[in-house]
Amino acid sequence: MLSKAIENALNNQIKIEAESSQIYLAMACWAEVKGLEGVASFMYAQSDEEREHMLKLVKFVNERGGHAKISELAAPNVTFTSFKEMFEMLFEHEVFVSSSINELVHISLEEKDYATHNFLQWYVAEQIEEEAVARTILDKINLIGDDKGGLYLFDRDIQNLTVTSASAEGLQ
Ligand SMILES: [Fe+2]
Ligand SMILES: [Fe+2]
Repeated sequence: MLSKAIENALNNQIKIEAESSQIYLAMACWAEVKGLEGVASFMYAQSDEEREHMLKLVKFVNERGGHAKISELAAPNVTFTSFKEMFEMLFEHEVFVSSSINELVHISLEEKDYATHNFLQWYVAEQIEEEAVARTILDKINLIGDDKGGLYLFDRDIQNLTVTSASAEGLQ
């Protein structure tokens, strides 16, 4: 059984994951209309992943005697001044999500809810992975700078981008 404090904190995370999905969907649309299909499909896939993160939380809350709250979401940013800015926002957003997961882990320990603490470890590992991917992409974009040819190749290669951090083994 979930305590009210844990249920509220998990419901807050459900909202954050849903908003993440919307943010990346907006990024996918922007990339798609700019003609960067590789970046767009990367962002569509990110958006789907965030929805899965949300659903996993929804099911956990309902299974453990809580009631998952499906709430109104903040509208995401829909235009960006550059790809660099867009990927910087992606990175900053993942750092924000990681801090939110850390706070949840903290609350689960305070509440002595070891089942939730155990469940959250998947998210801790996932965030290491997500931050690593975002950081790798930013490094590449910084290398490309304003070079159009570089951007073309980046768009082609982003689909094959795989970053496997040490903690991610056995995550999938
Ligand atoms: Fe997520
Ligand atoms: Fe994420």
